[in-house]
Amino acid sequence: MVAIVLLAVALAATACTGGGSGGDPDAVRYTPGAAGIGDSFYPTLGNGGYDVQHYRIDLRYNEEGRVGGGVFIDAVATQNLSGFNLDFAGWDISDLSVDQAAVPFTREGEELVVTGVEIPDGDPFTVVILYSGTPEPYPSAALPFPIGWLSGSQGEQFVAAEPDAAHSWFPCNDHPLDKATFTIMVGAPAGYGTAANGERVLEDDGGGSASQDAGTASEWEMRTPMTTYLATMVLGEGWEVVPDPASSEASGVTVRNFLPPDLVDDAPPGLERTGEMITTLAGAFGPYPFDRYGIAVVEGLGSALENQTLSIFDRQMVAAPFFEYVLVHELAHQWFGNSVSLADWSDIWLNEGFATYAEMLWTEHVDGDAAYREDVANRMQAAQVAGYGPPGTPSPDDLFGGSVYQRGGLVLAALRDEIGDDAFFTTLRTYADRFADANATTADFITVAEEASGDDLGTFFDTWLYGDEIPEG
Ligand code: ARG
Ligand code: ZN
Repeated sequence: MVAIVLLAVALAATACTGGGSGGDPDAVRYTPGAAGIGDSFYPTLGNGGYDVQHYRIDLRYNEEGRVGGGVFIDAVATQNLSGFNLDFAGWDISDLSVDQAAVPFTREGEELVVTGVEIPDGDPFTVVILYSGTPEPYPSAALPFPIGWLSGSQGEQFVAAEPDAAHSWFPCNDHPLDKATFTIMVGAPAGYGTAANGERVLEDDGGGSASQDAGTASEWEMRTPMTTYLATMVLGEGWEVVPDPASSEASGVTVRNFLPPDLVDDAPPGLERTGEMITTLAGAFGPYPFDRYGIAVVEGLGSALENQTLSIFDRQMVAAPFFEYVLVHELAHQWFGNSVSLADWSDIWLNEGFATYAEMLWTEHVDGDAAYREDVANRMQAAQVAGYGPPGTPSPDDLFGGSVYQRGGLVLAALRDEIGDDAFFTTLRTYADRFADANATTADFITVAEEASGDDLGTFFDTWLYGDEIPEG
């Protein structure tokens, strides 16, 4: 009888722990979360064993160019954790706690390894990391130039982190598979303007403070999940958040831009079409996925990046004749890239091909059907001359090339010809809606296109995405 009771207890314990507990039936196994999330291009980006719910980033920039503050991470364990990694490069950590208890940690390359915890699967926990340092540009694995926290030629500070530099400015689970909401508090010296993603919920110009070195600060809420590389802060002396009431009215989205002093009363020509662009793309893709939009204009980025609800543009782009097209491109990423995010960086054409195709839709909107055909034909010819390879197999050290952008965009132009306007726009809208605030793969997109068209599109996508030769139109 006694023996039978003991056996029953042992079986129950085995059932609870999944049976991995060896000789001790009561032991629950706790193991460290994985050091990567499984990306095929960047195996150390992201981590396993937990799911971040919310980041609070609270950083202050001072006159000497130093930055200090902290990050508060609310996460939920997805296994019994004896430890876990965050991605983090550089900076000095002065304090790290989990649920308000100091815990051991080490830094191994760009992995911040936390040990000495025992967090049951499914339990929430909060990590607080206080750190400071002088921000440095980050040598991306995917681009020939440094990204991350950058300084502009007027002294402005800004973050452009796609694809792999978010962890160079805050500790995080640095992969699009782990989206979270964000609160970002940006502090700067008095006289500076500050901005970040989402809605500005607090503004403090320091004027009322008794403190001698009172600076300015603002707090921003991004209530829709965001991937780490799209988080940003921008600050500059005399910069201002400038509302665009006409675009807001036209689109139903609150549009505000973050501009350097000389542009505050003299917005760049073309920018006033933001509202019309939101409406046009919403017609093609379905409702705009966020409640805010706008751009920040900096000097020294060299390009543009679709930071969620606050894209960032180099001033050269803003002054260029093709500014309108870049504006449409970054806006399109709010649907494709930001709301619907990659599950693996090798699928980058799902971001860049779609944003490039939006440029062709803008041509169609502004100049009509014949102009659209001509735009597609010109890009096709240029792609053939350049000999762009397959957009579905980019190289991990060159994510953002002509194959991905131009041939990637032409995939959609060809798909539209293949399945017709009705099925094509149903495909885009269904895909944007089904994977909103989530992640999608190339296979997911093909499934939606086959559903909408009723066609077998296997050969079409194989040749367009993976074939060496660009198919004849
Ligand atoms: N996604 C950006 C674009 O639309 C390019 C990204 C390059 N990365 C960067 N940090 N600038 O065009
Ligand atoms: Zn893009």
